[in-house]
Amino acid sequence: MDYTKIPSPCFVLDEAALRRNLAVVDRVRRESGAEIIVALKACAMWSIFPELARHSDGATASSLNEARLVAEEYGSPAHTYAPVYTERDFDGITRHSSHITFNSVAQFERFGARALLRGISCGLRVNPGWSPVETDLYNPALPGSRLGIERLERHPEGVEGLHFHVLCESGADDSARTLEAFGKRFGNLVPGLRWVNFGGGHLMTREGYDVELLIRTIKDFRARYPHLRVILEPGSAFTWRTGVLVSTVEDIVESGGVRTAMLDVSFACHMPDCLEMPYKPAIVGAHDTRDGERGWRMGGCSCLAGDRMGDWTFTDEYGDPRKLRVGDRVVFEDMIHYTMVKTTMFNGVKHPGIAIVREDGRFEIVREFGYEDYKNRMS
Ligand SMILES: Cc1ncc(COP(=O)(O)O)c(C=O)c1O
Repeated sequence: MDYTKIPSPCFVLDEAALRRNLAVVDRVRRESGAEIIVALKACAMWSIFPELARHSDGATASSLNEARLVAEEYGSPAHTYAPVYTERDFDGITRHSSHITFNSVAQFERFGARALLRGISCGLRVNPGWSPVETDLYNPALPGSRLGIERLERHPEGVEGLHFHVLCESGADDSARTLEAFGKRFGNLVPGLRWVNFGGGHLMTREGYDVELLIRTIKDFRARYPHLRVILEPGSAFTWRTGVLVSTVEDIVESGGVRTAMLDVSFACHMPDCLEMPYKPAIVGAHDTRDGERGWRMGGCSCLAGDRMGDWTFTDEYGDPRKLRVGDRVVFEDMIHYTMVKTTMFNGVKHPGIAIVREDGRFEIVREFGYEDYKNRMS
């Protein structure tokens, strides 16, 4: 791909990569018998919803806005789970949802009757108390977690489903262990349910993921409880490694022996997970600077002092180190899931456009953002 032809900055989704992921999701749906729904929180790029809808069993929402977007653009009501529902939003949520999961028995008691009256299937989020996630920020099963009920002797009347979510970019062995932990705490409740939602974090589209084990795990569970609908709601797995964030070097500054390429994108505004997690993203045509090499730091365009990462060494087509110049493109890999949805307009910095490279190579700008978008978020 000739990145110089792409307007910068821009998120670019690769349709062929998306379709490869969707083929894996379809296989798991077909062979395991589970319903797989898309967790909107990972990627709410609604121009691809028609494609996602063809290869999934619906979508999950975590707020009124997401539920409405599912209903409007996905074409089916949402499975909704939010850590807390409010009087202000709940009736709207019932208008756009087929399933609603509550984070506590008290929230079910407060709002459940209204959902049941509309024929919505209600569930409770439970906490299996085990998670393989090592980063506390992403671990819902830490002691004292506010996410999910810890113990439940029996489910209240009207509750048809249980939901758990403790994975993040996890393998199939982790799904199996989670199911064991869930079974130990809540197995006695399963015969009385109509569905169990295994949450997200099943990264079935990652290279090396043991898809067979996931399928086997789900099939074993379904064989034990043939009356149950099994639902998985991954987000990342759908848009894992499906695109990039294209940026441009606008200046080069040097201080204390550090060379920083000043970009037209920001880690703080456009790639916040890099700073939150933190993790260092891959850049096309660059590698992590090794001992003895002189690298380049990438500087974000916001005024936050920590809006920077480093270092990378850039190489030419022969593998030799090359100098960055003003005007060069810097292309960050795997920037579709949990990026676009997390961007901010802090500092009023230029918001990256959104584009798709079609399978036949055509490049389409889906959306560009300007001053009005910034102004409309403020008053
Ligand atoms: C309740 C719930 N379901 C599903 C997901 C999607 O997880 P992932 O994108 O890691 O598959 C999340 C992510 O935070 C979540 O909190």
